[in-house]
Amino acid sequence: MSDVESLPPPLSEKRHLHNPLGLALQLTVLFVELFISMLVSLYHIFVPLPQKDITGQVVLITGTGRGIGRELAKEFARKGCKVACAEIQPNLNAETIELVNKLVPDSCKGYQVDVGSLDSVRALKKQVLSDLGSVDILVNNAGIIAGGSLTTDLDPLLIENLTKVNFLSHIWMCKTFLPEMIARNNGHIVCIASMSAISGLANACLYTSCKWAITGLMESLREELRLNPKNKIKTSVVCPYFVNTSAEYVNNWTCRVPELSAERCAKDIVRGTRENQVIFSIPREQYFAACFMKIVPQNVRDRFYDIFKSKVNNIRVDEKKHFASYKILAGEFNAKTK
Ligand SMILES: NC(=O)c1ccc[n+]([C@@H]2O[C@H](COP(=O)([O-])OP(=O)(O)OC[C@H]3O[C@@H](n4cnc5c(N)ncnc54)[C@H](O)[C@@H]3O)[C@@H](O)[C@H]2O)c1
Ligand SMILES: *[C@@H]1O[C@H](CO)[C@@H](O)[C@H](O)[C@H]1NC(C)=O
Ligand SMILES: *[C@@H]1O[C@H](CO)[C@@H](O)[C@H](O)[C@H]1NC(C)=O
Ligand SMILES: *[C@@H]1O[C@H](CO)[C@@H](O)[C@H](O)[C@H]1NC(C)=O
Repeated sequence: MSDVESLPPPLSEKRHLHNPLGLALQLTVLFVELFISMLVSLYHIFVPLPQKDITGQVVLITGTGRGIGRELAKEFARKGCKVACAEIQPNLNAETIELVNKLVPDSCKGYQVDVGSLDSVRALKKQVLSDLGSVDILVNNAGIIAGGSLTTDLDPLLIENLTKVNFLSHIWMCKTFLPEMIARNNGHIVCIASMSAISGLANACLYTSCKWAITGLMESLREELRLNPKNKIKTSVVCPYFVNTSAEYVNNWTCRVPELSAERCAKDIVRGTRENQVIFSIPREQYFAACFMKIVPQNVRDRFYDIFKSKVNNIRVDEKKHFASYKILAGEFNAKTK
């Protein structure tokens, strides 16, 4: 302790608002802009936003073995994209690739990856780059749907492994694929979060905290990109409501509003991406409801959650050793790293 220098005392300089007149003017302009933008938004309730052309673009999607990822691969192929399907389970991915290539011949190629491992993600980049060229749209979809409560005795190693797949993976993917995008000043990163990234969910704190983290990561990344006034790289965060991708999931939750189908979810993700939406939910109105509920008094907010309560069983991954998700966490699908 004696080696540590003590911190300097705080500056005693008087704090004052910097340039108050300028600030008043900036805020006035801001409110005018708000008013105009709200009118434009109202207009777009009736007239859909234009969607950018993505024909011929290279789209890399993770977690394409089943569920939303598989439907996304189909939907992007239908829109004329070259699709790279990256998945940890090769047998499932092979089915997806066959389906997609049947739908649109020669539109899709498969890769094995563990998105939770930086080495594996780097190997993926090398392969995709040499096969298809630079990635135009990166969709970080892979994730493990698992309950988990801090009040039960979860294996700390399992918590770490889950965080790798559900959160660190987004950092590895962005970090690995951004340099190319920045060099070309072109690209779009889409992350699949969840409606549970905007509110809390009992028995799912591990899952939801990763989803909250993704939205923070993407908001900060977007701010960083905005430091370059000429930036053309887009970011999107998608917050889907419950999706019926598997009976195993649906049987373990109860929700008042019915689940979405994976097809519908994928269609909406592609549309939101083509509209360059920065953050949106599926269905769209849920995002506004959830944000509004953040500014009402807490008792009203609690009541709202009681009315629309989604109950998730505490599906403990460590009790379900036969579930694919557990096998992924335990490292049973070793992806190549060279
Ligand atoms: N199903 C829902 O209710 C729902 C709701 C909101 C958001 N989401 C999110 O959408 C995404 C897809 O969900 P889904 O329902 O299609 O899930 P899913 O379990 O049906 O499919 C996920 C796919 O990702 C793969 N995967 C898992 N770990 C991987 C890893 N380390 N590396 C590479 N691939 C890996 C799995 O093998 C599987 O094929 C997830 O991020 C999920 O959190 C799902
Ligand atoms: C999900 O729901 C749709 C209808 O909304 C249905 O066609 C589909 O089979 C369901 N999928 C699963 C896995 O239950
Ligand atoms: C979760 O779903 C599985 C598969 O349908 C079922 O066997 C299991 O009992 C469910 N678990 C809980 C805790 O409800
Ligand atoms: C976590 O991952 C490591 C490395 O893949 C593995 O050895 C370990 O068994 C995993 N632990 C659990 C509890 O899943």
